[in-house]
Amino acid sequence: MSKVQLFCAQTGLARWARLVLSIALIAGLFWALPTPSAADTAADEEAAWKQASRTGDPRLLTAFLNDFPESEHYITALERVTEIINGMNQARAALKDNPPQFSKPMRGISDELNGRSIESMLKIQPTFPPILGLPDRTWKNRACTACHKWKKENLCTQAQTYQFRDKPDFPHPHGPQFHVALKIWGENGCL
Ligand code: HEC
Repeated sequence: MSKVQLFCAQTGLARWARLVLSIALIAGLFWALPTPSAADTAADEEAAWKQASRTGDPRLLTAFLNDFPESEHYITALERVTEIINGMNQARAALKDNPPQFSKPMRGISDELNGRSIESMLKIQPTFPPILGLPDRTWKNRACTACHKWKKENLCTQAQTYQFRDKPDFPHPHGPQFHVALKIWGENGCL
């Protein structure tokens, strides 16, 4: 092989190596950069909507409204949040006229709570998980006593912390209306 041929072979090889290396670098860069495609965003939106609408969890619904303001589900999500807030206001109004007591059945609050007392709500299964995103099997169909020992006294202490937070974003165990009931019960001295 002449010197010229050898030179050509080497530079040819080096060119190939450089080309391969640059392709790898560029591909690596694209892979590393967060470049959400339209398809990814649509999939995220559908997944977020599916979870928010299935659970009816106000924390997920408000997060959905924040994250996907252009969504076709936006109005539906807004309606769901509005319903929750209206429900809380209705509960507040009903309980003002008829203050909750530990063992007294409640009226005019929600389908789930009407006819039940706070005490009796401590004996049925939760409708909302204690921690957002907790897998169903860890909390669904489980009695409160699997995780808690609620008695009138410690529930009263808990209820009295609600005076500092009156938001529809703590739905465990029975939704925002139950929190409203606990809050008012606490404010009235846990009778
Ligand atoms: C799988 C375990 C588990 C079950 C079952 C469960 N809880 Fe909880 N609960 C928790 C955990 C964990 C927390 C604490 C969440 C936190 O502090 O953020 C909690 C918090 C609470 C709180 C305070 C919530 C707040 O926002 O202040 C109340 C009240 C409560 N649970 C009542 C109940 C009742 C009533 C039931 C049954 C109907 C029940 N829990 C079932 C695990 C559970």
